[in-house]
Amino acid sequence: MELGRSGARVSAIGVGTWQWGSRSWGYGREYGREDLREAFEKALELGVNFFDTAEIYGGGWSERLLGEFMKERREEVVVATKLWPSRITRGMMWKALNRSLERLGTSYVDLYQLHWPNPLVPVSKYMRVMEEMWMEGKIRAIGVSNLSLRQLEEARAALSHTDVASNQVKFNMLERDVERELLPYCQKEKITLIAYSPLAQGLLTGKYGPGRRPRDMVRRINRLFTPEYLRSVKPLLMVLGEIAERRGKTMAQVALNWLISKPWVAAIPGAKRGRHVEGAAGAMGWRLDGEELGKIDEALRLVKPNKAKVLLQSIALLLKP
Ligand SMILES: NC(=O)c1ccc[n+]([C@@H]2O[C@H](COP(=O)([O-])OP(=O)(O)OC[C@H]3O[C@@H](n4cnc5c(N)ncnc54)[C@H](OP(=O)(O)O)[C@@H]3O)[C@@H](O)[C@H]2O)c1
Repeated sequence: MELGRSGARVSAIGVGTWQWGSRSWGYGREYGREDLREAFEKALELGVNFFDTAEIYGGGWSERLLGEFMKERREEVVVATKLWPSRITRGMMWKALNRSLERLGTSYVDLYQLHWPNPLVPVSKYMRVMEEMWMEGKIRAIGVSNLSLRQLEEARAALSHTDVASNQVKFNMLERDVERELLPYCQKEKITLIAYSPLAQGLLTGKYGPGRRPRDMVRRINRLFTPEYLRSVKPLLMVLGEIAERRGKTMAQVALNWLISKPWVAAIPGAKRGRHVEGAAGAMGWRLDGEELGKIDEALRLVKPNKAKVLLQSIALLLKP
């Protein structure tokens, strides 16, 4: 698919690399460098060419690892990285880009994204500096992340020679806020909506339940993994499981297909090993039918966790040593 109107072509399924080098996700304990190398190679083997990283992932290790793996294969890869919004002056932004390029071992980034808006700095300021980077050929497309519709419009208005190619936002079956305004806008304006946490951090794979919670720091503080939320989502997981079984697919593939069958949506599931990428790639090349989508909608309407319980359990988990 096209990446906005940038001219770049990406696979609808990409590889999220927040997990790469990140101890909070269990790097070094549950998986290591060779698992990630395998994930990288598997991706290219299966036609997945889109890799999403950020200067802050793993304190720079995500970019370093990606750089190491793609050394001989730079032209096959579409690299998206991100600028952290604490870079508030033009000089700081340029320095951050140059450091990313160094870690990635490349002379250009395919998609450079503002990671989050900064409430104290107008989005237009970042856009003007990013347009300079684009004019100099250091970045091939400008993207944003976690921007509201109003902020996205502000970002676009600040650019004179190019347009915003993408907005990367949280989007999965259980977290659908973007469907209200952002998604229709992006579809109309031909801006790619890059769905992050497309598997609800693994919850939609069916691996987790009230008696089986992930152990890493990232998900310990995610409200989706509180016992109450996990309980409420069980009927949905059963429906996904049934559809997956009938189709000869996995639940992860059903959840990802649900996203990428929407126009202008790409998904970047986070991968820790080759098996994850292989599974995700199997979400491409087929489509859920109307009846299956109807069943999923129906099951989603029944996901009604008790919000007070979720909040209390989240706090209790946060305080637990
Ligand atoms: N822009 C932003 O602010 C932002 C924020 C968050 C994430 N992101 C980006 O989006 C990417 C994805 O989001 P995410 O990592 O939060 O959540 P996610 O992709 O929904 O979930 C990732 C987890 O799902 C499991 N998984 C992945 N592929 C699988 C497969 N094929 N079969 C079974 N399980 C699978 C793995 O965990 P286990 O095997 O351990 O269960 C993996 O760590 C990140 O890596 C990052 O690049 C961006």
